[in-house]
Amino acid sequence: MSNREKEYNNPFSATVKGIMDLFKQRESVGKLGDEENLKGKKVLITGASSGLGLAAAKELARRGAVVIMAVRSGIPVKGDEVKSASGNSNVHMFFLNLTDFDSIRELVKQVKSRFGSIDILICNAAVVSAKARKTKHGLEEMFSVNYLAKFVLINLVLKEKLFNTDGLTVPRIIFVSSESHRNPKVFEWDTFGVFQVYGMGKSIERYGYYKLLMTTFAYELSRRLNPGNKTAFSIFAHCPGPVNSNIARETPGIFQPMLKLIFRIFFRSPEAACETVVYQAVSRQLEGMKWNYMFLMSRKPVDEKASDPENGRQLWEKTEELLRGKGIAF
Ligand SMILES: NC(=O)c1ccc[n+]([C@@H]2O[C@H](COP(=O)([O-])OP(=O)(O)OC[C@H]3O[C@@H](n4cnc5c(N)ncnc54)[C@H](OP(=O)(O)O)[C@@H]3O)[C@@H](O)[C@H]2O)c1
Repeated sequence: MSNREKEYNNPFSATVKGIMDLFKQRESVGKLGDEENLKGKKVLITGASSGLGLAAAKELARRGAVVIMAVRSGIPVKGDEVKSASGNSNVHMFFLNLTDFDSIRELVKQVKSRFGSIDILICNAAVVSAKARKTKHGLEEMFSVNYLAKFVLINLVLKEKLFNTDGLTVPRIIFVSSESHRNPKVFEWDTFGVFQVYGMGKSIERYGYYKLLMTTFAYELSRRLNPGNKTAFSIFAHCPGPVNSNIARETPGIFQPMLKLIFRIFFRSPEAACETVVYQAVSRQLEGMKWNYMFLMSRKPVDEKASDPENGRQLWEKTEELLRGKGIAF
């Protein structure tokens, strides 16, 4: 394994790399003006009960969006927090457990019946599991939450025609990814979707691999939804950089105090780190773009494994095959 590949593959090196990345000089896309807003736009965001998602929900609500928080916990407390922080009462909460595909289907049904349509979908929720766990569908939890659930959610949203396609603005789908998607060397096609046992020592490596799957899916989605010159859907992804959130909650208790201290001192607050996701949701500069990937506030190409059309095709087909084999509708 080269040094480059080791960068994000264990908790210690991932933390150090994350901190170093914050201090590198990069060309910024600039800041969003206060006048740029989302008045009347409906934004569905997953994982809005904590960290980055919660901070983003507040800022999107402050910019006038109708915010639909799809969460596993924090109903109604986190919604009330978003309302009072933003001064916007047009904030709604729905239960969503991404390990359970029935829950995803139920969410899409409820949002459709309550709102008719959405303008922006933000796939933010993710987990770093301390060890491999099985979901009720017999799949590995981190694989399911961090990749597969997004495939199912988006396909159901498209199938139910939940996106607003009035032609006035292009619907946006935003993926919160991570620079760790660059770490894996290869796609594990032969064992795709097979439950594999791992422990804490491998969890960051697995996290990077699932971020690669998600980012490859995002890129392929952009290709499939925009076959011609016209942009039907804007597909955006980004890495927010290191965030002082609850992402490391499963780290063994003995390391928690040290990790919390490092996170607090060196990592950005969720309020600061959510600027990229808010930018991708709001910015007029991105209007009509088929694809955009950013690291912090700079544009950057994704890893070439993720943008490779052959990988995109294989991933899509393997995912469909897996879901069909499990009898999961999408
Ligand atoms: N923190 C970082 O340094 C960092 C760096 C790069 C990228 N990111 C990405 O940023 C995004 C947000 O993470 P964060 O840092 O804000 O972490 P966080 O504070 O742990 O938030 C994760 C969110 O995902 C939700 N979630 C986890 N499993 C779920 C499930 N099965 N069903 C529904 N929701 C579930 C959590 O819900 P509960 O509150 O109910 O658990 C929580 O709302 C993730 O995509 C992460 O990969 C983070």
